[in-house]
Amino acid sequence: MRSYREIISRLWDDYTRQNRDVKRVYDLFLKEEGKVMNDHIALRTFDDPRVNIEVLARPFLACGYHKADTYFFEDKRLNAAHFEHPDFPEAPLVFISELRTGDFSQSFQGTIQGILNKIDPLRLESDDLIFDTEIFGLPSKQVYQRLLDESEYAGWLYINGFRANHFTVFINGNKKLDTLEKANQFLKDHGFQINSAGGEIKGKPEELLEQSSIMAGRIGVHFLEGVEEVPGCYYEFARRYHDQNGDLFTGFIAKSADKIFQSTDTR
Ligand code: NI
Repeated sequence: MRSYREIISRLWDDYTRQNRDVKRVYDLFLKEEGKVMNDHIALRTFDDPRVNIEVLARPFLACGYHKADTYFFEDKRLNAAHFEHPDFPEAPLVFISELRTGDFSQSFQGTIQGILNKIDPLRLESDDLIFDTEIFGLPSKQVYQRLLDESEYAGWLYINGFRANHFTVFINGNKKLDTLEKANQFLKDHGFQINSAGGEIKGKPEELLEQSSIMAGRIGVHFLEGVEEVPGCYYEFARRYHDQNGDLFTGFIAKSADKIFQSTDTR
């Protein structure tokens, strides 16, 4: 059985290999702070029973994670859950969301079904499913555009497959860049674009969580029709606050995350 460290490090390797921007941010933070702590990682999927949250959560549950809370993102039509590791407080939280495909048009639902029906069932049962970045095969620009028309999230997922959509720096673990204001300024000084949908900092200290993120860099993707640049993954930053009992808040705020999802928008 895999340890949580093996899972996270395999997701990290793929994430930094695909997204040069993310690796640059990590290196900058590492140089500044000496170490970079992870707050959470996030994965995206569809609500189809073959690939839904329950399916993607399996390897995390198998290595000791527990489901801690569930969420609903009205605007983006997403369900989500977050998982915590009770034995290792330093293990990143795991946030998995799924698109409520039934909330979209018949033709959109048909497209998703078509994509999923083409996958070899053995691949869907594999323990390596969460690392299967090519699960949806060689993408078609036509299909991609059809998905984007109704959901940026679906378009991203179709192109990127199963991988970490983002890792998140735990700002509380920093000594110098210990607020989101400082971290955002540091990133802007190094030429990165902060996602400003709903303000650069999402959430307030009273909500016990503040988050920000850079916009996803563009990556070259091979389509049936040729190579095109599309949004890859992004890096997120989170600062957490203590609740009235003195416990550090470990949940998520739906209305903040709603805008964070826009870090992979194509426009
Ligand atoms: Ni996040």
